[in-house]
Amino acid sequence: MTDILLVDDDHIMRTLLENILRDLYEIHSVGSGEEALDFLRESVPDLVLLDIKMPGMDGFETFTQLRQIETCKEVPVIFLTGDEDKSMEVSALRTGGSDFIRKPFLPEVVKLRVSNIIELHRLRDHLAEEVEIKTAEVHESEKKIRSMSLEIVQTLSGTIDAKDEYTNGHSRRVAKYSMEIAKRFGYSEEEQQNIYLIGLLHDIGKIGVPDEIIRMPRKLTDEEFAIIKNHPVIGASILSNITSMPNISAGAHWHHERYDGRGYPDGLKGEEIPEVARIIAVADAYDAMTSNRSYRSYLPQEKVRSEIENGKGSQFDPTFADIMLHMIDEDTEYSMQEEN
Ligand SMILES: [Fe+2]
Repeated sequence: MTDILLVDDDHIMRTLLENILRDLYEIHSVGSGEEALDFLRESVPDLVLLDIKMPGMDGFETFTQLRQIETCKEVPVIFLTGDEDKSMEVSALRTGGSDFIRKPFLPEVVKLRVSNIIELHRLRDHLAEEVEIKTAEVHESEKKIRSMSLEIVQTLSGTIDAKDEYTNGHSRRVAKYSMEIAKRFGYSEEEQQNIYLIGLLHDIGKIGVPDEIIRMPRKLTDEEFAIIKNHPVIGASILSNITSMPNISAGAHWHHERYDGRGYPDGLKGEEIPEVARIIAVADAYDAMTSNRSYRSYLPQEKVRSEIENGKGSQFDPTFADIMLHMIDEDTEYSMQEEN
């Protein structure tokens, strides 16, 4: 049953209101603000009917203290005002009361005002609950979509790596290193996730390069190398179909550009190269040196370090090369290489 706390020092008034409302509600009536607060510390009614003029603690003071009780922050309060002072009505509403009832009153008016306010609060609570449930549902499905996209991208990047047993896991490692560089550079959580996906897909264009060229156990001829060099453009064209992530193709398209403008496919220079591609370029070169090839094992860390150092400002964006150098220096066990 719906509970109402009735607070009035006048017991005739209390009896009157009890008689009007008791068929519809469970009425708890008390004669002072202090008693009301004692009651409210123990239980939370659906509505409080609160007389303003009371000896000792008046209705406003009671209201202020009531709102400080953690469980009563949202309980609707209807003030009972006397006929003699109209300004009380304004104060009642300004204070945060849901409504006021002027004494003397018509029983029907009391019933209607009380039921309206209770109904209004129910709807509001229900709405808030509904919004909460729906928001949770949306978050859940967003999460599902995100993990599904990641799985699809991981599968896709796995197919590229599978084309060449010597670069197995390359895309995943480049994605991981790129994300770490981005994180240290100050990318947000979301931007880091994004560059991880971009990194996973950076060599997707190799799907369009014949297997025998990718797997060639000897040094490539100029002609063969020219075919390999198509993979950024092929990759960009494949990824241009993913319109929901407009930046996704930037890594595939420009990860072989060089900071000094001598890279391919477009010979972009410095900051003309999209930032994500400049990051991936460093991670890509690092992984190439720290993984095994058909013709050699991964390089000693010192050698890798000096290659990155030497490439600063020529092959690599110096900012991202510096971050990579920090990562190398912190990696005293040399655990950032293929075999780990
Ligand atoms: Fe590549």
